Amino acid sequence: MEKTFAYLKPNTIQRGLVGEIIRRIEEKGLKIVALKMLTISESMARDLYREHAGKDFYEPLLAFIQSGPVVAMVLEGENVVQRLRNLVGKTDPLEAAPGSIRGRFGVSIRKNLIHASDSIESSNRETNIFFEESEMNDYSLMNEGQF
Ligand code: CMP
Repeated sequence: MEKTFAYLKPNTIQRGLVGEIIRRIEEKGLKIVALKMLTISESMARDLYREHAGKDFYEPLLAFIQSGPVVAMVLEGENVVQRLRNLVGKTDPLEAAPGSIRGRFGVSIRKNLIHASDSIESSNRETNIFFEESEMNDYSLMNEGQF
């Protein structure tokens, strides 16, 4: 079954939006199979965003995501990568649809509240930075497939 990785950035915790955003993920019928709060280390940050190395926002992005705890998660389900990306909205909150998470709550592109993997390959790579296989929970939702 397809999985995707996401994490709520430090400003989501600071703004008290963790519950609201997880509620939207659950409301959409997406199944959370791993979830934890942690503080990202420098090596994790560099690994996570290595494709952006050298860009003008890279160092500020690394500093920002290490500035406080984050909430990391893995979701599982059919087409879950695309379903979560749609729910999260475009990278820049200015362009994100009003009903999306970034469109509703996001203020700036550098602090856009949540990261969601853009492909199955990225998801596998990013999940391995944050989680052990033993942290995945294998279970069914009573209403799975009925949304
Ligand atoms: P995220 O989904 O975490 O993936 C990379 C992050 O880099 C992105 O969200 C933004 O927070 C940030 N980012 C991407 N493009 C830009 C940009 N043009 N200017 C500033 N920050 C950016």
